[in-house]
Amino acid sequence: MKFFVDTANLAQIREANDMGVLDGVTTNPSLMAKEGIKGVENCKKHYVEICNIVEGDVSAEVIATDFEGMVREGEELAALHRNIVVKVPCIADGIKAIKYFTGKGIRTNCTLVFSPGQALLAAKAGATYVSPFVGRLDDVASDGIELVEKIVDMYRYYGFQTQVLAASIRTTQHIIQCIEAGADVATCPLSAIKGLLNHPLTDIGLAKFLEDYRKVNG
Ligand code: G3P
Repeated sequence: MKFFVDTANLAQIREANDMGVLDGVTTNPSLMAKEGIKGVENCKKHYVEICNIVEGDVSAEVIATDFEGMVREGEELAALHRNIVVKVPCIADGIKAIKYFTGKGIRTNCTLVFSPGQALLAAKAGATYVSPFVGRLDDVASDGIELVEKIVDMYRYYGFQTQVLAASIRTTQHIIQCIEAGADVATCPLSAIKGLLNHPLTDIGLAKFLEDYRKVNG
């Protein structure tokens, strides 16, 4: 399973990349706003900065919600860097825009997906990635991981090439569940990725190794 980091924070992207396990980055308008990035030109500059840090796909989301606007913005975003993936909301004009981008060889990430039916439409339009939002389904007492499983099964059954990119990942346990569900990618907060390292037996074992080494070597 590939790891993307779900942030527009350059320091966190650098830290994840320096760990050597980063395969890409996803952003959204909320994450860009959190970093205080305002205006179209500044957003574009920021996407290029991200692309210069990580060698992997970087999702940049359109703001327009009509077909023409999404096409215009998406083409501008895709022209910024070869690793940009245009992120498009799962609405009727978004599906139409994904179909258009597919025809132009522009890669897409269909976002805000909450049902297998939405994921089917994204795949039929040729989306490169589909993003089921795990945590937000859990927030409304639904089962986000179950949606990931259903989409993975559906894509395998019908032979769709669209990759399942589990999004809205909140915890380290979500990452483990995504592996079990067969997700192609999980886009995660850096803290959840680092959480994979935590095991008390590792800490206890390392302390004992060092203690025994010092007993003999001083
Ligand atoms: O990738 C989508 C993600 O950023 C949404 O996460 O935690 O806002 O539901 P969250």
